Amino acid sequence: MSDKTMDQRPILELRDITRSFREGEGALRILRGASLQIRPGEIVALIGPSGAGKSTLLHIAGLLERPDEGMVLLGGIDCVDLPDRERTYMRRAELGFVYQAHNLLPEFNALENVAMPELIAGTPKQDAFAEATRLLTLLGLGERLLHLPTELSGGEQQRVAIARALANHPRVLLADEPTGNLDPKTSKMVFEELIHLVRREGLAALIATHNLDLAAKMDRALVLHEGKLVEGRPAQAKPAIKTPTADPDEDQDPPRAPFA
Ligand SMILES: Nc1ncnc2c1ncn2[C@@H]1O[C@H](COP(=O)(O)OP(=O)(O)O)[C@@H](O)[C@H]1O
Ligand SMILES: [Mg+2]
Repeated sequence: MSDKTMDQRPILELRDITRSFREGEGALRILRGASLQIRPGEIVALIGPSGAGKSTLLHIAGLLERPDEGMVLLGGIDCVDLPDRERTYMRRAELGFVYQAHNLLPEFNALENVAMPELIAGTPKQDAFAEATRLLTLLGLGERLLHLPTELSGGEQQRVAIARALANHPRVLLADEPTGNLDPKTSKMVFEELIHLVRREGLAALIATHNLDLAAKMDRALVLHEGKLVEGRPAQAKPAIKTPTADPDEDQDPPRAPFA
């Protein structure tokens, strides 16, 4: 993160978010005053064990659900109390979302899957397909544009889902264990491509993972603990991504031992 980044206002801010779910007679208090600030260009890991509330937090940040209390500011605008139509508009204008499952439409090819949300939003066909082609090519799928999801590997399917999330030129990418369904080797590759692309496009990102090796590749980590977010140190679990002797080009990392 550069000094310039630090000077900028947050593009995404959560303030004192609370969220409970009913459980029998009582309530399951999942988020208990979770706050965060993410500045343009920052890539932040969201870590915590299964059930901690990562998905709930991402859905709230992604304007897919409302919190019980608290504020969700996108570019300084609190979106919690906006009418649904305006929340949808903000989501389309500012956010991209990658889920653990790719959710691709099975009857459409890779290109169509990526272009579809843009076409529905009214982007001219030529522009939507040009942008979809650009993103898929950046993700190494330039030769697979016309393949159906079933004709793609798991890693390729998830790359298509990543391209789809970026096709609306969001300022913030939210990703919920985006490589969680992939085998460790593929997960690492797709994850590195995701980070590379997010940096290249200059987006901010909040990426849930419980893989500390993946978390260590991001700028910083927030740990969801007892319903609150605390700054974490993801690099503590395993050797750092780059050793001091490693090639400075981040695409040229030396091979490392596979994940445990
Ligand atoms: N719609 C819901 N209704 C009831 N309980 C829910 C709902 N969504 C999530 N939960 C509960 O909230 C907790 C946190 O879930 P989640 O946000 O999915 O955690 P994580 O993504 O960290 O695994 C879990 O115990 C889950 O069962
Ligand atoms: Mg989850």
